[in-house]
Amino acid sequence: MTAILIDGKRIADEIKREVRVATDALASRGLRRPGLAVVMVGEHPASQVYVRNKRRSCEEAGIISSAHDLPASISEAELLEIIGLLNNDGAIDGILVQLPLPQQIRSRAVIEAIDPAKDVDGFHPYNLGRLAQREPLLRPCTPYGVMRLLAASGINPAGMNAVVVGASNIVGRPMALELMLAGATVTVCHSRTRDLAVQVGRAELVVAAVGQPGMVRGEWIKPGAVVIDVGINRLPDGKLAGDVEFAPAAARAAWITPVPGGVGPMTVAMLMQNTLEAYQRRRSGVA
Ligand code: GUN
Repeated sequence: MTAILIDGKRIADEIKREVRVATDALASRGLRRPGLAVVMVGEHPASQVYVRNKRRSCEEAGIISSAHDLPASISEAELLEIIGLLNNDGAIDGILVQLPLPQQIRSRAVIEAIDPAKDVDGFHPYNLGRLAQREPLLRPCTPYGVMRLLAASGINPAGMNAVVVGASNIVGRPMALELMLAGATVTVCHSRTRDLAVQVGRAELVVAAVGQPGMVRGEWIKPGAVVIDVGINRLPDGKLAGDVEFAPAAARAAWITPVPGGVGPMTVAMLMQNTLEAYQRRRSGVA
């Protein structure tokens, strides 16, 4: 292997420590700590793991998390009522509704019901629109975390040919917006892209976010490229694998993120950072 590993776990721990220092400083001044409402509907197994991680990270970061574990049978109206209460709750700075939601609930309606000032996932059209118009407020956690990984590694995307594989609302699209904001030339590939190998082969920076193990082949990677793997896929043998074929990609790349321990921990760290930011904005009245 020739690539340098980008240690997301270490960088995420650093960010959580910084948030902890800030929240401890608030507490020592007699102020309340930031509050994050974590809303989980039903029992989606992967979501349960993510939600547990988010709640544990709140403890590490000195953020008060409130758990809202709701039955899969809940109606959209009932869920919207709970979000309305959280929007008006002065002790809550961030509202996170874990996706996916059961099919009787329109995630669009839920995302748009969250007060944009408390939208720590950055999924509300207002926050995405602000990112698209180069004046971001709360930014989607995973793409924001990728940008922090690049910065912590001394990689400046300005002027780079960046290829994002995957065009989801949660990762691919906001990732493209973040990279454009940072001055990269961005191509977004998706299920209808004609020659993925050619697109990836041109990239100085590849971000893979498709949710299919090994879909980005190691032999496609341009020698010296930066490879960021957002995928977290559970294999039949129980192991985790990314969207990139790791060993052959690492043999060609200059930098690569591992799975696990790369982008995954950063998503949660940026959620903590966003919650602190939402708290500070609400306190200073500029939300
Ligand atoms: N499901 C998968 N990723 C995410 C995320 O970043 N936020 C939420 N709320 N749900 C998700």
